[in-house]
Amino acid sequence: MTGGGPVGVGVIGAGKISEQYLANMVAFPDLDVRFVADLVTERAAAVADTYGVPGAGTVPDVLARDDVEIIVNLTIPIAHADVASKAVAAGKHVWNEKPFTVDRQSGRTLLEHARSAGVLIGCAPDTFLGPGLQAAKRMIDRGDIGQPLTASVVFQTPGPHRWHPNPDFLYQPGGGPLLDMAPYYLTALTQIFGPIAGVAALGSSASPTRTIGAGPRAGEVFDVSVPTYVTALYDFQTGGIAQATFSFDSPLQRVGVLEIAGTDATLATSDPNKFTGDIRVAKSGVEWQTVAVTGAEGGRGIGAVDMARAVRGGDRHRATGDLGLHVLDAMLATADSMEQRTFVTVESVFEPVDALPEDWDPTQRVV
Ligand SMILES: NC(=O)c1ccc[n+]([C@@H]2O[C@H](COP(=O)([O-])OP(=O)(O)OC[C@H]3O[C@@H](n4cnc5c(N)ncnc54)[C@H](O)[C@@H]3O)[C@@H](O)[C@H]2O)c1
Repeated sequence: MTGGGPVGVGVIGAGKISEQYLANMVAFPDLDVRFVADLVTERAAAVADTYGVPGAGTVPDVLARDDVEIIVNLTIPIAHADVASKAVAAGKHVWNEKPFTVDRQSGRTLLEHARSAGVLIGCAPDTFLGPGLQAAKRMIDRGDIGQPLTASVVFQTPGPHRWHPNPDFLYQPGGGPLLDMAPYYLTALTQIFGPIAGVAALGSSASPTRTIGAGPRAGEVFDVSVPTYVTALYDFQTGGIAQATFSFDSPLQRVGVLEIAGTDATLATSDPNKFTGDIRVAKSGVEWQTVAVTGAEGGRGIGAVDMARAVRGGDRHRATGDLGLHVLDAMLATADSMEQRTFVTVESVFEPVDALPEDWDPTQRVV
C-alpha cells in the first residue's frame, strides 16, 4: 500500500458507457466515486442512484467539490476537450474517454494546460492494460514469435446505429469506425511496435443516412458525414508495418482481429476492445495453438485506477494523454490521407511503457 487512501472520482457524462464504468469503478477499492454530472441532471441523478453514488448534479457542481480529485470524462467526443479543460482549470486530474479530442490543437493545448497545472491526463482505451493484451505483449517482448514484423487488423460490423439509442455522434466528425473503433486497435499496435510514423488510407460510405434501430428514437433517420469504411496501411517509427480495416458497412460482423506476424510465429491477440481473452499462436506450418490467459479482468475504468495509483505516487502512469494524442494524431492522419490520396506523416510520439507485471490487479487495494 502506498497510503493516502482511495482517490475521489467524479463522472461527467451519464450516457451509455457510464453504466459499464460505474459498475466497475464503484467496486475498485482504489477509487471512491462521489459524484455524477451531466448536462441532463435527471440522467445524472438516475445513474448515481442506480450505482449508489452519493452526489449528482451539474458540471460546475462536480468541479467545485474538494473531495473529487479525478474527473472521468464520459461525454461525447466533441465535448471531450472543453469538459477536460474545465476540469484541469479546476485543478482536477482527468481520465478522458476516447477519442482524446477531435482535433490535434485542442489535444495539445489540453496537455500543455495539464502540465502547467501539475495534473495528470489519461485517455481510453484502457483495454490494453487488461490481462489479454498484456499477456500478448509479454510473450512478444520475450521473443515467443521472434522479431515482430507485420500486423493485420480487422474490425467490421453493420454499424452501431442498430443498438445505440443516440448513435448520431458515431456517424459525425469525432465518430465513424475510424475515430470510434481504431483507438482500440491502434493503441494495441503501438504497445507492440511503438509510435506510428505514417499512413496511407482509402475510405468510402455505403449510405448518406442511417436509421436508428433501437431505443426511444428507433426509426429516426439521421445524416452520415464521415466515411463508414476505412482501410489503411501504417508504418511504425522503429520498424514494422500493419494493414487495418475499420468498417460500419459490412453485413458480416467480424471484429477483434489483431494478428502479429514475427520471424518465427504469428500471434493473434485477444480482442483489443476487450480486457481479456485467449491468445493464439501459429508456428510455421502448424495450426493455431491456444494460450489461456489468466488475471483479473477489471473492465472499463482500470485506466482510472492506474491513474489513481500514479496520483498517490505508488506507480507510473501508463494510459497517458500523450498516448491518446498520438493515437488521435494517427487517426486524423488516416483521415487526411483518405482526403488527399497521399501518404501522410505522423509527427507526434509518446513514451512507451513496459508490460505490466503478471500480478498487476486493479481490483485489489494499493493506495
Ligand atoms: N457506448 C459505448 O459502447 C462506448 C464504448 C466505449 C467508449 N465510448 C465512448 O464514451 C463516450 C460517451 O459515449 P456514450 O455512448 O456513453 O454516449 P451517450 O450519448 O450515451 O452519453 C453521453 C452523455 O454525455 C452527456 N454530455 C454531452 N456533452 C456534455 C457536456 N458538455 N457536459 C456534460 N455532459 C455532457 C450527454 O448528456 C450524455 O448523457 C464517447 O467518447 C464514446 O466514444 C462509448
